[in-house]
Amino acid sequence: MDTLRIDGQVVLVTGAGSGIGLAVARACAAEGATVHLADVSDTVHEAAGTLTGNGSGTGTATGTVVPHVCDVREPDAVRALVDGIVAASGRLDIAFLNAGVNGAPSLLQPGGAIDELSFAEWRRIMDVNLDGLFHCLQHCARVMKEQRSGSIVVTASTAGLRAEPRVSYPYVASKSAVVGLVRQAALELARFGVRVNALAPGPVVTNIGGTGPRPAAAVAAWENSVPMRRWGRPDDLAGLALLLASDASSWMTGGVHVVDGGASALTQVPSDTLPAPDATTL
Ligand SMILES: NC(=O)c1ccc[n+]([C@@H]2O[C@H](COP(=O)([O-])OP(=O)(O)OC[C@H]3O[C@@H](n4cnc5c(N)ncnc54)[C@H](O)[C@@H]3O)[C@@H](O)[C@H]2O)c1
Repeated sequence: MDTLRIDGQVVLVTGAGSGIGLAVARACAAEGATVHLADVSDTVHEAAGTLTGNGSGTGTATGTVVPHVCDVREPDAVRALVDGIVAASGRLDIAFLNAGVNGAPSLLQPGGAIDELSFAEWRRIMDVNLDGLFHCLQHCARVMKEQRSGSIVVTASTAGLRAEPRVSYPYVASKSAVVGLVRQAALELARFGVRVNALAPGPVVTNIGGTGPRPAAAVAAWENSVPMRRWGRPDDLAGLALLLASDASSWMTGGVHVVDGGASALTQVPSDTLPAPDATTL
């Protein structure tokens, strides 16, 4: 299908240094797009190298790949990133706004209850997942409104679509707000030819929970809540990201698209993942 092609298009991916962002950047580069990878970590240079086949890479990029160190929490840095891309590549066709963090205690962990969670933890996650997205959305929209075209794809989460005891308050709240931000932006930008959609992944094996080994019981509990009985892999998101980025989805905007191995088809999470009942209130 020709409408799926993005070769020659200019793409920005935030949070591109690892995980889902890197997988989407790799897919765009393999399709022949000019891909700008942005990440707060300078390992983004190494990550970009793996796409091109430079150094130790075995990549399949047929387009240009450009790494940038950029902290999405810094509005001036985001402005400079977006303006720099337009100056270097002439335009910005596709933005995959994906930078995100977690790591705060879930409802099931010590410190995760609403009256225990520190405001610093709340802010740490909101600053990246919500405020950082706002800065990126604002500057990408500014450019795309002007050029009267563009596709923005945002990484939300299934944790933004329902309560989730296995995830922290600020993560659930930030991703719920992300969904609202995507819908509101889609509403505004539609008349400028700019589409805005969200991916909502379920559990995906990435560095977001840290790079060390994960507790086996938690890994198994997540797996057991997925009908396809496995965690997602970053590449599982790339196909839908390409569809939403390309003209193949030309009449799709404001949508939140779940990719979770069927987990959301369940009406509730397994009861063994709920917080233990308090005997005094039953
Ligand atoms: N892994 C999952 O289970 C899962 C599920 C649903 C949604 N998500 C979302 O997917 C997105 C990608 O996460 P991932 O799972 O690939 O994790 P990841 O940790 O592998 O990748 C996230 C990247 O974002 C970067 N980043 C963090 N803070 C940043 C900042 N301030 N500025 C720029 N870059 C920053 C990190 O350095 C990292 O390279 C996030 O928005 C996350 O919330 C992940």
